[in-house]
Amino acid sequence: MKSWLCCAGLLAACSTFAVAQRAEAQDTTNNADSRAAATEAAMTDAERVSLLHGIMAMPYGDVKIPEGVPFGAGYIPGIERLAVPPLTETDASLGVSYVGGLRGDGATALPSGMAMGSTWSPELMHKGGARIADEAHAKGFNVLLAGGINLVRDPRGGRAFEYLGEDPLHSGLLGGAAVAGIQSRHVISTVKHFVLNPTETGRQFHNGIIDEGALRMSDLLAFEIAIEKGEPGSVMCAYNKINGAQACGNGRMLTGVLKRDWGYKGWVMSDWGAVRATDFALEGLDQQSGAQLDAAVFFGQPLLDAAKRDKRYRDRIADMSRRVLRSIYAVGVDSNPPREAPIDGAAGAAVAQEIAEKGIVLLQNRGGILPLAASAKRILVVGGYADAGVLSGGGSSQVQGQGGPAVSLPTIEDGPFTAMMAQNYHRSSPLAAIRARAPQAEVAFRDGRYPAEAALAAKNADLVIVFGTQWMTEGLDVADLSLPQGQDAVISAVAKANPNSIVVLETGGPVAMPWKDDVGAIVEAWYPGARGGEAIAAILFGDVNPSGRLPVTFPVSVAQLPRPALPGAETVAPSFGGHGKPGQTLDIDYNVEGADVGYRWFARKQEKPLYPFGYGLSYTSFERSGLAISGGADPSASFTLRNSGARDGADVGQVYLVETPHGKTRRLVAFARIDLKPGESRTIDVPIDPRLLADWTAKGWTIAPGTYRFALGASAEDLIEETSVTLAGRTWNYRK
Ligand code: BGC
Repeated sequence: MKSWLCCAGLLAACSTFAVAQRAEAQDTTNNADSRAAATEAAMTDAERVSLLHGIMAMPYGDVKIPEGVPFGAGYIPGIERLAVPPLTETDASLGVSYVGGLRGDGATALPSGMAMGSTWSPELMHKGGARIADEAHAKGFNVLLAGGINLVRDPRGGRAFEYLGEDPLHSGLLGGAAVAGIQSRHVISTVKHFVLNPTETGRQFHNGIIDEGALRMSDLLAFEIAIEKGEPGSVMCAYNKINGAQACGNGRMLTGVLKRDWGYKGWVMSDWGAVRATDFALEGLDQQSGAQLDAAVFFGQPLLDAAKRDKRYRDRIADMSRRVLRSIYAVGVDSNPPREAPIDGAAGAAVAQEIAEKGIVLLQNRGGILPLAASAKRILVVGGYADAGVLSGGGSSQVQGQGGPAVSLPTIEDGPFTAMMAQNYHRSSPLAAIRARAPQAEVAFRDGRYPAEAALAAKNADLVIVFGTQWMTEGLDVADLSLPQGQDAVISAVAKANPNSIVVLETGGPVAMPWKDDVGAIVEAWYPGARGGEAIAAILFGDVNPSGRLPVTFPVSVAQLPRPALPGAETVAPSFGGHGKPGQTLDIDYNVEGADVGYRWFARKQEKPLYPFGYGLSYTSFERSGLAISGGADPSASFTLRNSGARDGADVGQVYLVETPHGKTRRLVAFARIDLKPGESRTIDVPIDPRLLADWTAKGWTIAPGTYRFALGASAEDLIEETSVTLAGRTWNYRK
């Protein structure tokens, strides 16, 4: 892995952090290659192949789950005589998944990926990763199917809530830190879903069309950085096709880019139900996951049969097995087995709350209506099941605490995935947390079913806190950016009745806000996790100063998106999975935006978003100045941040490339989240990853000689100071 990238984009303090991460990895990676080779050489063919396919460890199909195997996402038996441990796999990035309550236990639900992305804090991602890995271990798992880092190309994508944002540097650094945190506890992590996978409509047959250069500079770059930072034991390939070839049978991506160019040494596991044929092995897939979801166990007997007639399969079986073994040894899974034990719920709750508090984004604060005065006498809380809990996203990443969800609303017909696809609320009531913070106030609640009723109650309140929710799930996209079930009308009615209205959003991703100009404050709380209610109240009352910054652009409306109509919505019925009809394909042309995802698209089209990438307010104020760029072989950016207000706070300094010799552009090239006391200022020096200055051309990464202009930003739209530097031309590639 390339060391020159190691610190890119982090603050000065990251050097100790990075050194600590490397040390963890070195302890365990020393002999992984030679040990894997020795074990593989001692295996029979049947043993080799037993490592290369697994079952979904849930009652589904006629597969028997061996005794003692915990209900979870997957299971691959070990090889006792060679001390190879079984792999026990659980989802996902937000904690140990609930599998619809099958295990009967609970776990710490971290806030959504969007909330984590809003912290802009690799350190916090590492901490969150380590925490959920400890819980995975305590529940008998040694593989976490975490590391969801697909870029959010479309805010309607059903899994946007699981992902970290729309920028490759930001998602790569944060995702890589989470993976490193997980693996520091001897639990293997994936990064997923390799690659593209931005929408759920027709997810089993959607074909993403995109030039390789654009992909290398966007989604692939996020994976590349995350893999360098986190060294994940496994990469999970996606359901969709890329340029006509299924992601899990895509030789160009798996063998060409991942293994050859990037030198990736771990194994590629399939997504569940994403394997179509045995020859996917020749394209670079190493393991078939959850095989009962596929048409056959392609990586069992058929692989052995193929090896008898074709040496390429024989060689691949050896390589595939070595890759699985290497990661087991590199992460120390064999020497640190999971031990079932009660989880440390208090420690988990503390991390979940810290992430929620640092990830909540204050979007609007007219007349300083927030933080709330503890003196307010009559507070009305409306909607969002705020009396019961906070919303979470659906699908395989769904996590729930002890006792299960506070509210669970089924969304699909009865079947094996009904519980996973329910609209679930964590047991952390914002209403209770607000009441606890305002003991002298009379705090009333209306569920928000009727706009008129909410408006009537709003008239009699000093202030109104109205919740707006947008549920998202794996398997389905959202149809548009509205708040469903009439919530926009409730917010408008409340705001008209009482100007002191504060909107708290619990959304999977960006939403439109037709009522924006009528309300006082807007707080984006995302899906805030196990202690979300407490975190929301802490922000509202000012016990915590908001510091989250948007990791995605909020459009005014879908008309501003590269594809205003959701591709496939007209022809594909919403469904959780579904392979479609034989031969069915849904071609989506991602060359429309190419590498210009999110804010880069808005900059290219000169469109003004509702809220830009990188944006977020605070209860204090900041001054940003002194941008200086040094060029050369190891470029870096330095800038000064100053807390010019009266409260402790944290700012995220952001440096954007705004012009190259080819013309105008917008690319985040460095960032740093810094805590500052009132009056304190700090100058930070952040390395710039040269790939962010380059374009991918036929020759590889290419920096054109000439002048490069950079800007210091409070967001991708609010660019404060500019400076230029002349760079010598340079081209490099991966071939040694
Ligand atoms: C999801 C993966 C998940 C897997 C196992 C799939 O449906 O796409 O993210 O890890 O299931 O549960």
